[in-house]
Amino acid sequence: MDYRDLYDGIDEPIELGDGTYITPINFDNGATTPPFRSVTKLISDNIKYYGPIARGVGFKGEYCTTMFNKARDTILDFFGLGSCNTHTVVYTKSDTESLNILANILIKNKEDMILTTRMEHHANDLPFRKLGKMVYVDVDCLGRINIDDIEKELIKANGKIKIVTITGASNVTGYVTPIHDIAKLAHKYNAIIIVDGAQLVAHKEINMNGNCAEESIDFLTFSAHKAYAPFGSGAIVGRKEYLNQSDPFLSGGGCVAGVFDESIIWTSIPEKFEAGTQNFFGVISMAQALNDLKNIGFENIGEHESNLKNYIINNMKSIKNVVMYGDTNNTDDRLGVITFNVNERNYEDLAIKMATEKAISLRAGKFCAHPYVYRLLGASDSDAYRDIVSGDYYYGMVRASLGLYNTKNEADNFLNHLEFIANRRNPNRRYRRSKGIIRF
Ligand code: ALA
Repeated sequence: MDYRDLYDGIDEPIELGDGTYITPINFDNGATTPPFRSVTKLISDNIKYYGPIARGVGFKGEYCTTMFNKARDTILDFFGLGSCNTHTVVYTKSDTESLNILANILIKNKEDMILTTRMEHHANDLPFRKLGKMVYVDVDCLGRINIDDIEKELIKANGKIKIVTITGASNVTGYVTPIHDIAKLAHKYNAIIIVDGAQLVAHKEINMNGNCAEESIDFLTFSAHKAYAPFGSGAIVGRKEYLNQSDPFLSGGGCVAGVFDESIIWTSIPEKFEAGTQNFFGVISMAQALNDLKNIGFENIGEHESNLKNYIINNMKSIKNVVMYGDTNNTDDRLGVITFNVNERNYEDLAIKMATEKAISLRAGKFCAHPYVYRLLGASDSDAYRDIVSGDYYYGMVRASLGLYNTKNEADNFLNHLEFIANRRNPNRRYRRSKGIIRF
């Protein structure tokens, strides 16, 4: 199967600065992905039936409400929960919103402790910081976390850690974390586990049940725009017993059964957590994309992406002046996320050159994961702080993140141009000030 046939928009030529047209290469799938063709078709087929969800009487409203709710079953099925009655799906607008909601509904007390790691992107750290007490597990020199360190912290906290929240895969190094082993540990010490699935869902099969009750994942969050359905939706797949016990974080129409001056009676889950008119097209496209991924098969996805990742990493090793981050020898636990720099060249300048000279889209900066990127770059907290307040923005990297539709030919174009830049005399040495475009 030619995976490229499954996508919309990836072969649309774009104009370069010199007026020539070129088919772009998108190696920025960690940020956002193009849509599956089936997804754009689903949207265009259903535009004519669009109507109010769960609040209107009439054909269009009922049609949309039925599709909207059926999508929950598709999502539960995708995560191996189809025949269980343990979890439900709450629709959100993104992984970030999902994690903010979970932090606000699950943390009941300022003294509650939350364990997370230094590998997280900000969405799996900042929402929890202001509500409870954080415990961070650090990474080793190659940027991996060690599960024994998680257990040590759980023991040390003596039952006060209520939530373990961990990324399923890093957006900086692509390391996949052993989520079921971590779930087992969290449960052993009476904590619940949240898995931030933003970078994992489109690349690796997730069965939230694990092999036994202790291994089961209590909550998983993700965004559909990183899984080939970029229409503004995300979800929380969460254990019903905890959702039943919590009041909503966002409130308004659609989440209440009764409103009185002295009290509010909330609806049941999942609607209790879905105040306001929901994103119908975002939701149905998310379910369609997950269905497509399941049909393509994660063995095929894994094989294709892993071959491409290894091909790129191995070839980058022989390009003079290129420095890569994370483990580039043992790459089995890494998804197709490759971060690098070119000696004495500014990260932003490098990414801009790749984009403007060859239409290769990458991401540059700290990828909304500052503590992790600083660690990988060997920068101390005080170096990092000075770097930001001085406005120097010296620290950063460039990231290539792969998707299923990327090809070996694209990899070759990327490698050739990277080599060309890496060996070109650099008038603006890496130490120059950033132009201030890319700081995140
Ligand atoms: N977390 C997203 C990324 O890695 C935004 O690009």
